[in-house]
Amino acid sequence: MQFHKDKIKEKILIIDFGSQVTKLIARRIRDLGVYSEIITPNELKKLKRYNDIKGLILSGGPSTVTTKKFQSVPKEIFEKKIPIMGICYGLQLIAKIFGGQIKSSNKRREFGRALLFRKKSSILIKNFLDSKKSVWMSHEDAVIKLPKNFKVIASTKDSKFAIIENTKKKIYGVQFHPEVTHTDNGKQLFANFLFSICNIKYKWSVTSQKKIIIKQIRNIVKKDRVICALSGGVDSSVVALLVNKAIRRNLICIMVDTGLMRKNEFKHTYHIFKKRYNLNVKLINSSKFFLRKLKNVSNPEKKRKIIGNLFIKVFEKESKKHKNVKFLAQGTLYPDIIESKSSTGSKTSKIKSHHNVGGLPKKMNLKLVEPLKDFFKDEVRILGKSLGLVKSINYKHPFPGPGLAIRIVGNITAERVKILQEADNIFINELIKKNLYNKIWQAYAALLPIKTVGVMGDIRTYENICLLRAVTSEDGMTADYFNLPKNFLDSISNKIINNVKGINRVVYDITSKPPSTIELE
Ligand code: XMP
Repeated sequence: MQFHKDKIKEKILIIDFGSQVTKLIARRIRDLGVYSEIITPNELKKLKRYNDIKGLILSGGPSTVTTKKFQSVPKEIFEKKIPIMGICYGLQLIAKIFGGQIKSSNKRREFGRALLFRKKSSILIKNFLDSKKSVWMSHEDAVIKLPKNFKVIASTKDSKFAIIENTKKKIYGVQFHPEVTHTDNGKQLFANFLFSICNIKYKWSVTSQKKIIIKQIRNIVKKDRVICALSGGVDSSVVALLVNKAIRRNLICIMVDTGLMRKNEFKHTYHIFKKRYNLNVKLINSSKFFLRKLKNVSNPEKKRKIIGNLFIKVFEKESKKHKNVKFLAQGTLYPDIIESKSSTGSKTSKIKSHHNVGGLPKKMNLKLVEPLKDFFKDEVRILGKSLGLVKSINYKHPFPGPGLAIRIVGNITAERVKILQEADNIFINELIKKNLYNKIWQAYAALLPIKTVGVMGDIRTYENICLLRAVTSEDGMTADYFNLPKNFLDSISNKIINNVKGINRVVYDITSKPPSTIELE
């Protein structure tokens, strides 16, 4: 089901060769007010109309052009007078197609930051590269001989051809990743490509899509009823408000209390949607059921699968109570889809199976309505704001579908859930009080599956370790730990230990993503 793609006059197509960060290219381009879509090389082959396409970007990916067979693009696309930019594998592919040489070699591989030096001026690097700057590299193969009619714009110590161009054909290539935040000001490079090379004029914005989305939901759903899994997070809340605007009383919002939510969260959400927005909300308390099924389960993927399946069961049961329910509305986002499986059928490898993605319609016999599946989190917040969603929900930190289950490392018990809810509540409230909450992308407390010795008063204790995590991020794909002030850490550690029975040690997680993930499981 495709939403909000009508009336787009100018777009950039991103050809996905399977990089983990392909979606970030779309992100950067949309930040610049330009609509972009990601398609597979196969979809590109089948494409018939090119008139609304103002530029093509070939993404990075795990393939290599040094073997006989490799993923490619039809040569004709280079004859259509559409500007093309290759990133990483995309650059190597361009070089290969035009007769350059590429080699896989330990000497030339680069992972992480590299210093880029300017060799020649170019419209592509205006205000991006004056003389040198830090960029993010992630490649084993490298171009060793440039094709005819291509010039070098910039190099690093190990990559002679870090930026290349063929101005006549408007073909460009960058070996590094301007889409990741570790490349300084990568957005400027995209801006140069879009506005100076592709000559994009039309501005696209998330809010301009609101009316279109609502109308499309109405057209798709017609007189049938829709069930919405409302968790109180920004995604499902925005979905509920969008569907409500489209079909009003034919929307049934179901809140399943798994017992794995943050302290008082469900009551707060229920009250807001029932009283303030007057939505048709049903609250189902399944906490005992979930806890029973999770007993003695410590494997993170098993936890996710169990919770996902129980959700389906509860929904199936509930949907049968209402007539004409044909649709399930979900707050699935773009990044959920990437890390679970590739939405484009490309080679992006699976990191975690997010419980709200995949498999639902077959089992439930309901069609999916996923109006946010092409949006990133902050785009959803823009939509939420324009729908009048209360700030406490619109700017709430992301919370995973499996809830506290994946923040209690190891076995889950009612007691451990209670301990964690208390600690988390103290942590989050303190962040809000000290005006730190809105500077952080996501913060939470977790329980580790080990006990350690402590001393409280004159008594030896043997209790849980509470781990605190706070990260900054743009979209959850990469993250850095937040530098909490020392006095905050001192006082939060005290507050948690003094107020939560069962915790005698507090630690702060100082890893970024990658190499860690945001959640512990
Ligand atoms: P990770 O831990 O993969 O998390 O770095 C990235 C973002 O996704 C959230 N997350 C989930 N959300 N179901 C969800 O709906 C899940 O199973 C799940 N696992 C992680 C996580 O909270 C972070 O915002």
